[in-house]
Formats: sequence, C-alpha cells, structure tokens
Amino acid sequence: MSFGLDQTKLTYGGYLRVDDLLKLQQLRSSPPRHDEMLFIVIHQVYELWFRQILHELEGIIRRLDEEDVLGGTRLLGRVHEIQKVLIAQLSVLETMTPMEFLSFRDHLMPASGFQSAQFREMEFLVGIKEPRMVEYHASDAGAKARLEARLAGRTLRDAVDDLLRRRGYALDAASVARLYRAPEGHVELFLLAEALIEFDELLTVWRFRHVQMVERVIGGKPGTGGSSGASYLRTTLDKRIFAELWDARSQLEIAHDAE
Ligand code: HEM
Repeated sequence: MSFGLDQTKLTYGGYLRVDDLLKLQQLRSSPPRHDEMLFIVIHQVYELWFRQILHELEGIIRRLDEEDVLGGTRLLGRVHEIQKVLIAQLSVLETMTPMEFLSFRDHLMPASGFQSAQFREMEFLVGIKEPRMVEYHASDAGAKARLEARLAGRTLRDAVDDLLRRRGYALDAASVARLYRAPEGHVELFLLAEALIEFDELLTVWRFRHVQMVERVIGGKPGTGGSSGASYLRTTLDKRIFAELWDARSQLEIAHDAE
C-alpha cells in the first residue's frame, strides 16, 4: 500500500539527506566499542546545534543593527531553548561509564573539544575573543580562516553597545544600572538586557555541566588536547560576555526615603 505517496516527488529522506547523515558515524575502535557510537552521535548533534546558534546570532546582530530590538530578543529566546537542550544532553553522555570511555579513548587521541571550531566561532561572535585559541586549528585551513574572520568581525557585544549608545546609554555598569532603575520608556532595551544575561548564564551553566561530566568520566587526568583537563575547564567558568550587565546589579538599591 502506498498511502498515496508519489514516488517521484521530494521525500523526507531526500530533503534531509538522511542517507548521507547516517554515513557519518564511523567508529574507530576495533572491535567496535558499544559506547563509541553515542560519543560520536552526541558530538555531531552538538555541532549541528552550534551551527544553528551561529546562524541565530548572525540574525540577532543584524536585527539589532536595524533597530529591530524585539526581533533580536525573540531570536535570543530561541537560542536560550537550544542552550537548555545542550545542557540537558550532557546527562545522556553521563550514562557512559569511565571504563567504557577508556576502552576507546586512545582511538581519538589527539582530537579534542579544543578543536571545535564552531564553539570557538560562537565565543568570538559574541565577543569573547582570544586569538591564541586559533592555534588549535593550525592543521585545518578552513576552520582557521573562519576563526580569523570572526576575530576581525563584528560581535554581539559591538551591536549591543552601539544600540545602547544610539538610545542614550552604553555598555557599562553605571549606564546599565540607570536603565534598570527606570526601564519605563526603554522596556525593549530592558528586555534585551535580560535576554543577554540569560544567554551568558546558560553558557556558564553548560561549561559547569561539561566540567562536572569530565570529572565524572576522566577524573583529574589531562585532556586529549593537552590541557590539564578539569582544572583548565574550571578557569573558563569566569568567562563572561556581558560582565557589565552582572556588575550593574551591584549598583542597584531601593531609595527608601523616596517611598
Ligand atoms: C566523555 C566526554 C568528554 C570528555 C572526557 C571531555 C573532556 C574535555 C577536556 C579534558 C577538555 C579540555 C581540553 C583538552 O585538553 O582536551 C575539553 C574541552 C572541550 N570540550 Fe569536552 N569532553 C567531553 C565531551 C564533550 C562534548 C559532548 C562536547 C560537546 C560539543 C564537548 C565540547 C568541548 C569544548 C567545546 C571544549 C573546549 C572548551 C573551552 O576551551 O572552553 N566535550 N573537553
């Protein structure tokens, strides 16, 4: 029975290139280790979501530059939902035991999350630019070129700062505190600022969950990329995109005598 499907028309698998997608999970362990499939699939899923986040961030910057603050804030809401998926997904990998990971870990040396070009692109695009991180991509000319372009390019921070300036504010703690004390008349900017701090917070939550998972799986061992492992990753918890938004909170108080 064909259920009326016309075999000459575009299909689900044809549109999504499912056959191609399913060719991409090539285990390196031999004989194949059961959990290596999960390890590959989960990283590929992350890379697809990173691609989508980069796409959304470019759209957000464009909207802010065009004064479409609500449009940019709406897309940030989508990014938050993706970030929550990225965080939740780590617990799937935590079902892999340390011994199971060790059974194929040697096969992926010296590949490492350090070489996730899209993760670094995401950091550069929002405004966390560390040129030394490009060194990890020396052997991949395409990734290196994309990262260098991102290093030279406009960031979400730039777009937010310019927008605030056009509206009589700036991306500094005192100015943001002024906005928070009296958001009336600038509600769009206030909602954007809240969406930006949410993005920042969710990125840190991902970093924290990743380091917890790393410790659970490899303890205090060094990473395959040559870093000290969990202790290096803990230093990244302090990376904030919009430190000014966080600092502004310390400047806020209720003026009781005005009540
Ligand atoms: C068993 C699972 C995992 C372990 C043991 C692990 C371990 C590590 C370690 C030790 C590092 C530090 C760099 C190094 O020396 O290699 C690192 C970095 C990184 N990992 Fe993982 N990881 C795991 C899963 C994942 C997953 C699923 C992702 C998703 C994309 C991921 C993304 C990253 C990224 C983006 C970095 C760079 C972080 C930064 O420099 O701020 N890792 N990982």
